[in-house]
Amino acid sequence: MNIFEAYNSTKKALEKAGAEDYVFEAKQIIKHITGFTNAQILMNYTNQLSDYQQNRLMALLKQRELRYPLQYIFGEWSFYGYDFYVGPGVLCPRADTETLIEKSLELLKDRKNPEILDLCAGSGCIGITLAKQVPEAAVTMVEKFPEAARYAEKNIVRNSADNVRLITGDIFESAGADKKYDLIVSNPPYIPENEMDTVSPETKYEPETALKGGKDGLDFYRAIIKNYKSALKEDGIMAFEVGAGEAAAVRSLFKDAGFKDTGTVNDLNGIKRVVFALL
Ligand SMILES: C[S@@+](CC[C@H](N)C(=O)[O-])C[C@H]1O[C@@H](n2cnc3c(N)ncnc32)[C@H](O)[C@@H]1O
Repeated sequence: MNIFEAYNSTKKALEKAGAEDYVFEAKQIIKHITGFTNAQILMNYTNQLSDYQQNRLMALLKQRELRYPLQYIFGEWSFYGYDFYVGPGVLCPRADTETLIEKSLELLKDRKNPEILDLCAGSGCIGITLAKQVPEAAVTMVEKFPEAARYAEKNIVRNSADNVRLITGDIFESAGADKKYDLIVSNPPYIPENEMDTVSPETKYEPETALKGGKDGLDFYRAIIKNYKSALKEDGIMAFEVGAGEAAAVRSLFKDAGFKDTGTVNDLNGIKRVVFALL
């Protein structure tokens, strides 16, 4: 089987299995199996796959047909151009979350040596990306569950993010609120309890503790605003990723807590994905 044939059969198998992004995934899989870049694949598409490569492809497709997340199969995933270890026990970084990164960088533009707090850090994709993009920043990340924190720890090392400290702690107990921050960011669990059954088959393999946001999905936003408002500098900012349809409610939580200005940012699908507020 040559590379072109492998790509086509992978695409078909993924489409049949119901994978949403089957074209993108087929490309990623062929790159992973061959070790080639996009350009090398185009130049070498008639190359035969070795037996080893074909066996790996078959094994990988078997897992993917069960809708096991591709990110877990690879054991790593790229987010905002940086590579992160991922696997069972931690949420896979999502492209939607890059909207929070873009907005955070814009909000931090005029700040010198900013102090940043990333709550519910998971793999560390938010905190580490901000630390790399703003090297003079000092970033604190808080993650409750050791299984997830272990990935964050490895990702700090992988990305040589020397300006990041990781706290294994609980946001309901104000972990990390021991200093004042310019920016507090979070992509917390935000799925309402009664919507947990509707998540994709891939998401069912991810930890429930990374997804469940209480009865209405807003438990974590309430707790963070209440517990961490006093950990903001005088002109501090909070910015959250929110679930589809949650932006208005989260803006109200900010207003009720006395924040001056609030705003939202749409993701690439036109969904209000980020809510931010200035103290
Ligand atoms: C939606 S995931 C986000 C992970 C990462 N920030 C990202 O964007 O990919 C939420 C994370 O919050 C963590 N978490 C859940 N409850 C927590 C708590 N009470 N305190 C701190 N972290 C918590 C979960 O383990 C999970 O890693």
